[in-house]
This record gives sequence, structure tokens and C-alpha cells, in this order.
Amino acid sequence: MRKPFIAGNWKMNNTISQSIELVREIKEKLKNSDCEEVDAAVCVPATSLLEVKKILEGTNIKLGAQNMHWEESGAFTGEISPLMLNEIGVDYCIIGHSERRQYFGETDENVNKKLISAIDHNIQPILCVGETLEQREREQEEFIVKRQILNALENISASHMEKIVIAYEPIWAIGTGKTATTEEANSMCSFIRKTIEEKYNNDISEKIIIQYGGSVKPDNVEEIMGQKDIDGALVGGASLKADDFTKLVKF
Ligand code: PGA
Repeated sequence: MRKPFIAGNWKMNNTISQSIELVREIKEKLKNSDCEEVDAAVCVPATSLLEVKKILEGTNIKLGAQNMHWEESGAFTGEISPLMLNEIGVDYCIIGHSERRQYFGETDENVNKKLISAIDHNIQPILCVGETLEQREREQEEFIVKRQILNALENISASHMEKIVIAYEPIWAIGTGKTATTEEANSMCSFIRKTIEEKYNNDISEKIIIQYGGSVKPDNVEEIMGQKDIDGALVGGASLKADDFTKLVKF
């Protein structure tokens, strides 16, 4: 049985003090028992990681970063290394989010290096993939997503693959209020699972967690989570309100 996984992606929102306030509210509303059957995580800005970690101590809510460099240290101005995330005690790191690919030139090759480094440093990656509207209109979505996945997973062994969470986020549904229909979302998540089965094996493809992301909210989460191949959600906008995020975790 795959355990559902709801992760909030705060993106570039919340200063340290705002993060403290939000995570305190989330902690108040989410009992440890709420996170027994569902994994929950908040992926917060780098500047807030340490303070949020302190507040989450003793809860079942996990902590995630939104990006990392693959090297442990060096001349990479502005970057954050896996060792820095390790010292904070980060559980997850979002890798290859479409906004990083679109605005910061992140390539499949970088994504692959980051995935390998995250796993080597015991940080569980949330690998994001997804097509643009134009690609979907040209019916290229499966080709695009398969290519993103196979490039990202180059040289990643089966035992490492088990640790990777995949988030399918159609770019046209992110922050737009447009969700893919549940059929569209589930059909792509099934296709991703099939792709993993072809590259690895059935055992691994049945084990891995595949999230859907793109305008997930309290009023559509139940339907989305009811789909056979969708095991969780990566949530932007609705994760910025304690009430909404809590409702998502308790779907
Ligand atoms: P959204 O963002 O929920 O605001 O659409 C999802 C994401 O980009 O991870």
C-alpha cells in the first residue's frame, strides 16, 4: 500500500517571521495522528528552513527545501549545498520544479545531478515533471514527460529509485486555477508508473509515490486523491493558508 503524501510548496513566499507564524498555525491544527496515515511536508524558503525545523521538532510533519546544488561546497555563489540542508535536518527537496526549469534555466542534466546528490545525502527528492499547454495541445505530453523522466533518472539504480517521489505538474495548471481533469491527471500518473516499470520493474513502479500538482485545493483534493495512480499532491497556493493546508492533509 502506498502512503498518501501531501506536500506544500511555499515557493518564494513568507519571510522568517511569517514562516514561523504559518508553521505554528499548521502545527496547532494538525495532530500527530493526522499524519499517521498521510505523510505531510512543508517545503519552505531556504531562509526559513532552520526556524521551521525547530518548530516542527516532535511533530510528524516533515520539512522540505525547494532546490539544492549537487556539489557539497565550492564556488557557486548563491547556491545551497546538500551538506547545508543535512545540517538543518531537511527530509525532502523539490527538484526540477517547472518554475526553476522555466525561469532559471534548469536542464534535465542538472536535475539528474541534483537527484543523485540528494539521494547520496539522504534527502528524499520530489522530482517535478510536466508539459506546457502548447505541448499538450500538440498531443506531445507523454513524449515530453517520458523524456524528462528518463533523462532525470539516468544512472539511478533501482534501490535509489524507490526513494524518489515524482510530482506530475502540468505547467498550464500551476497557479492558474485550472486543474487537469482527474482523468487527465490520473492517466498521466499511470503513464509515469508504466515508464518506471519499463525502466526498472513492476515492484518499484507499484511502490513509488506519484503526486499531482496544479491548483489542488480543499474542494478538489478528495476527487484527485481518489484516483488509482495519484498518491499525493504538491500544493502551491493552497499551502500558504494553514486552514487549507490542514484540510488537504486531512482529505
Ligand atoms: P499551485 O502550485 O498549487 O499554486 O498550482 C503547485 C506547484 O507549483 O507546486
